[in-house]
Amino acid sequence: MLFELEKINKNFEIAGTKREILKNISLKINKGESIAIIGPSGSGKTTLLNIIGTLDLPSSGLIKFNNVDLKKHSENQLAEIRNQNIGFIFQLHHLLPQLSLLENVLVPTIPQKDKSKRKSAQKRAMNLLNDLGLIERINQRPGQLSGGECQRAAVVRALINEPSIILADEPTGSLDNKSAEQIGKLLSDITKNHNIATVVVTHSTKLANMMDKVYRIENGNLIVNVK
Ligand SMILES: Nc1ncnc2c1ncn2[C@@H]1O[C@H](COP(=O)(O)OP(=O)(O)OP(=O)(O)O)[C@@H](O)[C@H]1O
Ligand SMILES: [Mg+2]
Repeated sequence: MLFELEKINKNFEIAGTKREILKNISLKINKGESIAIIGPSGSGKTTLLNIIGTLDLPSSGLIKFNNVDLKKHSENQLAEIRNQNIGFIFQLHHLLPQLSLLENVLVPTIPQKDKSKRKSAQKRAMNLLNDLGLIERINQRPGQLSGGECQRAAVVRALINEPSIILADEPTGSLDNKSAEQIGKLLSDITKNHNIATVVVTHSTKLANMMDKVYRIENGNLIVNVK
């Protein structure tokens, strides 16, 4: 089991009023499995994704990564787990405008001090950029590329440290139908070819249905396999 959430609750307190956003959510995520999380705006999808991505803590409940309780790790260890094991993709690609495409996808490897590992990351970047049809764009800056090309580069950046899980929040929210479909297929293929897990949060039923399993958040509860 890669990730296991057990009876997670998440509350936010604003001006003394407590709101229960996630209620008693349990979820298992395996390698090689792609899952989609759907639900209305404000239902808690991003909140859940942030908890899986160790960016936020649940109010109660247990999260295990590779069978170890995340609470057993220090803040530094969590940062390392995040950098080494989790690839993030957002609605907007967040590529840095002053860097070339190749430089952008290598940003997550900057903390790597080992020269040979940096070299192999560079090789991996070239292979991935080639696979994703971006090899002729590597010296261009994001401003000189289409939205779909930038989002594909964001996928390469998420994969560069060979993560065990990809977390994507509305990855196709800013794309046209054709580019959105391409990203959906890419995410589902990558999950199988790299034997990683993928969690996609989306409002698009079409994208959701491209994943192996679809979950819906409704009134704070996680409803399983609504596909
Ligand atoms: N840090 C926070 N403090 C207080 N309330 C928060 C915080 N983060 C999120 N919320 C609230 O929790 C609820 C769920 O937010 P979340 O961002 O998870 O929704 P979502 O399902 O991702 O919505 P969308 O589809 O619009 O992105 C919202 O009502 C939001 O206002
Ligand atoms: Mg959201």
